[in-house]
Amino acid sequence: MKNSLKNRIEIVIADITKQKVDAIVNAANNSLLGGGGVDGAIHRAAGKELLEECRTLGGCKTGEAKITKGYNLLSKQVIHTVGPIWRGGNNNEDNLLANCYKNSLQLAVENKIRTIALPAISTGVYSFPIERATKIAINSVKEFLSNNLTLEKVIFVCFSESDYLVYQSIIDKI
Ligand code: APR
Repeated sequence: MKNSLKNRIEIVIADITKQKVDAIVNAANNSLLGGGGVDGAIHRAAGKELLEECRTLGGCKTGEAKITKGYNLLSKQVIHTVGPIWRGGNNNEDNLLANCYKNSLQLAVENKIRTIALPAISTGVYSFPIERATKIAINSVKEFLSNNLTLEKVIFVCFSESDYLVYQSIIDKI
């Protein structure tokens, strides 16, 4: 990967709610009314005002993204996206997951966001296989960053050592 891109992508093991970035991305569900996993963690950390704002958004289609304030989070804003539920791989899951990353970064650029943290969308409750999801995540972000110079830093936030190792092994290969 070109050096300029390498400097703009980071992979860490962390709690995304603690990231000091302009925006964090939430792996939400279509209702946008909270849930478990990273969605639950973000809502807990942001406070009830986040849910109040989410209530005004009218949900979110799979693969699309919507933006809110961050409230009590360290990040000013939250970009909520809805990943595909894994159903075996023949239900357009790959494209929908790629759209989550592209639409989230596009919304970030439109909102003058310069630094953003991304969880491993769909790889928890939604059961998307981690290696396949990571290839899609890294390729989508790389492609977007090569066409968009305004985003200074994209941080892939892994919640486990095993996910981190998958990200590291894949990013070195592409
Ligand atoms: N920080 C970073 N990553 C986290 C955190 C956290 N605090 N908590 C969980 N994760 C990781 C999980 O380990 C997984 O790798 O986020 C990734 C996505 O997993 P989920 O949160 O389960 O999200 P997803 O698989 O996209 O399923 C979405 O789960 O929580 C519900 O409301 C949500 O219905 C939606 C579904």
